[in-house]
Parts: sequence; C-alpha cells; structure tokens
Amino acid sequence: MEPLHHLIYQSKATMVFSGPQVSQLLNCVQQRNQAAGITGMLWYDGRRFLQIMEGPASTLEHVFSRICLDCRHTRVQVLANGPIGHRQFTTCATAIVSGSHPEDGSAPGSPHLAEQDEALWLLLEDFRLTAPPTALLVAAGHS
Ligand SMILES: Cc1cc2nc3c(=O)[nH]c(=O)nc-3n(C[C@H](O)[C@H](O)[C@H](O)COP(=O)(O)O)c2cc1C
Repeated sequence: MEPLHHLIYQSKATMVFSGPQVSQLLNCVQQRNQAAGITGMLWYDGRRFLQIMEGPASTLEHVFSRICLDCRHTRVQVLANGPIGHRQFTTCATAIVSGSHPEDGSAPGSPHLAEQDEALWLLLEDFRLTAPPTALLVAAGHS
C-alpha cells in the first residue's frame, strides 16, 4: 500500500472573496478531495488560508502542485510535509475562521482533529489568534 503522507501549508489570498466565492471554493475542495481520498481541513480567515491534507503521497503531490499554481492565493509556505502513521481526519472539512470567535478554548471548525496532536492544536490556535476580527462570517460547508 502506498505510504500515507500529510502536507500542511499556509498561503495568502490574492483577492477578497465574496461569501458565494469562498463557499464555492470550499465546497469544490471538499468534493474533489473526497473523490481523491484526501482528508484534512482547509481554513480561511479572510486574508489567509491554512490547509492540512493527508492521503497517499503521490496523490498529495499531484494535487498540491495544482494548488500551488492557483492564482487565488500566493506565498504558499509549506509548514510540514512527510509520512504519517495514520490519518488525523475522517473527512475533508472546511471552515471560515474569524478572530472574533468567542474564547471557548476550542479551535474553530476542527471537529475531527485528534486532541492529542498538540502541534496541530498549537498551529490552529496561532492561526485563530492572528485572524482578522473582520473575517467573512459566511456559512462554510462544514462536514
Ligand atoms: C487555498 C486553496 C486550496 C485548495 N485546495 C484544494 C484541494 O485540497 N484539492 C483540490 O483538488 N483543489 C484545491 N484547490 C483548487 C485547485 O487549486 C484547482 O483550482 C482545482 O483543483 C481545479 O484544478 P483544474 O482546473 O486544473 O482541474 C484549492 C485552491 C485554493 C485557492
């Protein structure tokens, strides 16, 4: 069986997405990744994207090379890339992050994230804390 990898990156949006535009992107990502066997999470805070992807190494490589060419974002910065023992996510979920979320101590939109993975929690917490308070508050296709 092909080795399982994960890839985490952060990027900067090149445009201000309207509610329908961001919903369309997030829904498209969910559908494509489900079909490709990629699980993970994509967050958008109105300025930046943070995406965690996990799946067969060659599939990730292929999809990520397409993502890097996408002109809707720039300054793609890989934060982690390598083999993993098992998946942390059961689906490909998406979420809108806003810096004005209530301080309830939980990372936003991460229903499938295993709590024991401290590094991921810290990453998300940092993304959340630095999100602009005015991030778009549209309903994203949570799964
Ligand atoms: C921030 C961001 C994240 C994306 N994530 C994915 C993804 O996880 N999977 C995917 O198939 N496409 C993703 N896309 C869309 C791809 O960049 C690309 O538009 C899509 O795969 C269609 O490619 P194609 O027109 O060459 O078929 C993402 C786009 C952006 C801007």
